[in-house]
Amino acid sequence: MDHARILNFLNSLQNQDCTQQMDNSQCSKESLRSLYEKFTKEYSLQRARTLSREERLANHLTSNSLSYGEIEFTSLSMVFQQVQPNKGGVFYDLGSGIGKSVIAASLMHQFDICKGIEYLHSLHEQACKLKQEVEKQKSLIEQEMEQIGVYDYQQPKIEFIQGDFRELDWSDGTFLFASTTCFDPDLMKQLSKKAADLKEGSYFITVTKTLEPQIGWDLIKSIKVQLSWGLATIHIQQKKMIQVQQQQIQL
Ligand SMILES: C[S@@+](CC[C@H](N)C(=O)[O-])C[C@H]1O[C@@H](n2cnc3c(N)ncnc32)[C@H](O)[C@@H]1O
Repeated sequence: MDHARILNFLNSLQNQDCTQQMDNSQCSKESLRSLYEKFTKEYSLQRARTLSREERLANHLTSNSLSYGEIEFTSLSMVFQQVQPNKGGVFYDLGSGIGKSVIAASLMHQFDICKGIEYLHSLHEQACKLKQEVEKQKSLIEQEMEQIGVYDYQQPKIEFIQGDFRELDWSDGTFLFASTTCFDPDLMKQLSKKAADLKEGSYFITVTKTLEPQIGWDLIKSIKVQLSWGLATIHIQQKKMIQVQQQQIQL
């Protein structure tokens, strides 16, 4: 995939309101965001919140960490413009809800695989349904990619896993996202501890809170973006390149 073309296109989403620049039909045809919106139309925030609330009530799950909210497509695209990761790699959304950000990531960057881990069964089921629908639209995605000049698009594999990310292995991740605003201090501690197993140079994106700094992460940038509950700060962290630093010291 010509990654630069997708980035340029995502940039243009930021810098212009395309509805002002083109007529609506052209805009909806040409926009990755429109494609994403088409796929996720039936997967509303409201419905996800209701499913989450019902499952938590039924199972007496009172932790705030399980609160539901979503990152917007444009906000996630701002992260990709800042980071510009290399082609390939493994994307994770830790606490992936109904899977929308995993689908968004699969459209924004040529990862090898995009995975989501979600604790609540009802949300995981929705994510699996969404995955099936998106995979059926492979040729439509390729057509839309061609319209923005990307001729070698290969849809990343998509995988949703039901479970607790504190217990599962995600050490193959190279680009990780966790919407951590409501995660309690103990969960942040466990997340930071497990993140220590990730490869050097991996990116970890968190919201409002950062990983525990002593675990070996550099804070690359913090940006204010829109989430479903309002403006929040996204922190882009990168795992320190310890070996390179040590070699430099030896020289
Ligand atoms: C704020 S929502 C984010 C949804 C999605 N990532 C997004 O940004 O659009 C946080 C999600 O994390 C899930 N979650 C919280 N703790 C978890 C854990 N230990 N393991 C897996 N999922 C978890 C919650 O159930 C919830 O769906």
